[in-house]
Amino acid sequence: MQVQTPAAAGPVLSLDGIVKTFPGVRALDGVRLELHAGQVTALIGENGAGKSTIVKLLTGIHQPDEGRIMVDGRPVTFPTAQAAGQAGVTAIHQETVLFDEMTVAENIFIGHAPRTRLGLIDRRTMRDRARAILQGIGADLDPDARLRDLGIASKHLVAIARALSIDARVVIMDEPTAALSHKEIAELYELVEKLKRQGKAILFISHKFDEIFRIADRWTVFRDGQFVGEGMMADVTEADLVRMMVGRSVDQIYPKRPAQIGPPVLTVAGYCHPTEFEDITFTLHRGEILGFYGLVGAGRSEVMQALFGITQPSKGACRIAGDVRVIRTTAQAVDAGIVYVPEDRGRQGAVKGLPIFQNVTLPSLSRTSRGGFLRLAEEFKLSRDYTQRLDLRAASLDQDIALLSGGNQQKVVIAKWLATRPRVIILDEPTKGIDIGSKAAVHDFMSELAAEGLAVIMVSSEIPEVLGMSDRVIVMREGRIAAEFTGRDMTPENLVRAAVGIDRPARGEAA
Ligand SMILES: Nc1ncnc2c1ncn2[C@@H]1O[C@H](COP(=O)(O)OP(=O)(O)OP(=O)(O)O)[C@@H](O)[C@H]1O
Ligand SMILES: [Mg+2]
Repeated sequence: MQVQTPAAAGPVLSLDGIVKTFPGVRALDGVRLELHAGQVTALIGENGAGKSTIVKLLTGIHQPDEGRIMVDGRPVTFPTAQAAGQAGVTAIHQETVLFDEMTVAENIFIGHAPRTRLGLIDRRTMRDRARAILQGIGADLDPDARLRDLGIASKHLVAIARALSIDARVVIMDEPTAALSHKEIAELYELVEKLKRQGKAILFISHKFDEIFRIADRWTVFRDGQFVGEGMMADVTEADLVRMMVGRSVDQIYPKRPAQIGPPVLTVAGYCHPTEFEDITFTLHRGEILGFYGLVGAGRSEVMQALFGITQPSKGACRIAGDVRVIRTTAQAVDAGIVYVPEDRGRQGAVKGLPIFQNVTLPSLSRTSRGGFLRLAEEFKLSRDYTQRLDLRAASLDQDIALLSGGNQQKVVIAKWLATRPRVIILDEPTKGIDIGSKAAVHDFMSELAAEGLAVIMVSSEIPEVLGMSDRVIVMREGRIAAEFTGRDMTPENLVRAAVGIDRPARGEAA
């Protein structure tokens, strides 16, 4: 008897001739996509190429204007999220909506909680199943913990657990590793392997080529809402994929310009926090890009939040341009010339419901308003300048920021803070979620502003970015400064060793 292998059986899910328009934008223009059992298909494209829109069509959030969605070769429609779930399609979204006031288990089972015979929510079963799913993905979380007490990375694991609580044949992951630490990323890769072995068809959306090459079996590239090509990972190179997605080859050399490092702008002395960090002391100079490297959870973002007045240090002092400044609120920080572009830009950065141009000019209003009137033309000009420099892709600057793709929203938030012309800008993971072509634009702009005298702190977990852009690197580990490197000591090995706490072998010692 011949057993048909899943690969020979044709795609589990396929899309053909899909068109989706939004007012002013043709987000998808006749695209195709195939997902196969036991294989990972990477969907690759620039910010705004239409990747998340595909996810929304497959999960019943939007309906296609034209084209067909097929499961096992049969046309289907997903009028609601429930319909998609029943057809066995589940997604881990870029922004899964979770509820802070509910427990982990409640968040996992929203809408499909196990019930007792009386029709009440069966809390014990729910908790047990939640625990089993969490264990299955290597997440050490208490099902009874309130979501609001968890960090971003843990919340992401809850979102993953929620997606897997539906018994799915197709699992969609939209930038799933963007908010995870190294350890959690490794666990996610294991999870993907496990799902593959179970025969699930996986759609994987990512801007990180290393992970695409590591876990994907197939690729599909979209550009400007159009299908560019598809094939097997074994048959392409990174350069091929980049050329297809951007339409040109991209120079991956970091555009760091030699900067004139000036006098100290920011001096932080003995900053402490009861739980997050201890004895943080460093100086930042005019024109300098100072990299902060460390594992996720090392306390880098927490230090930055204290410098920006989101939290308060329990001890320590900070001088800006020589003057001692007490920063207890973000308004005081902005007043002192410090701004912070957070990592979690969706929540802390963009004001949804406001047009793009107002999102950019919001904190710079004193520059664009005269005698109490907002100068619309000036607001527009300022936003246009800054967003163009960051390679923003938007139909118009009048558009609500909420309608932009994830990566483009991030560019607006970066533009907004740069437009305030601060003395010091703190960029937390500035290119996370930003495509490879736009990354160069962000780096270029950063480098140019530093050359004009801006002092930059760049928190980044990407070693090539840290090494490529920084004049100097501070490595944090477990809430403390573990090491500082300049010049030829700025090597990947030194950074990693300091971040994980392996001491450097003494000079001359055999390796
Ligand atoms: N509800 C909407 N209304 C108007 N335009 C929208 C809406 N949703 C998406 N768009 C537009 O559709 C296009 C595709 O967006 P999409 O979110 O699919 O991009 P993406 O490939 O996921 O990008 P990223 O890498 O930045 O996440 C963008 O131009 C976006 O602005
Ligand atoms: Mg997206």
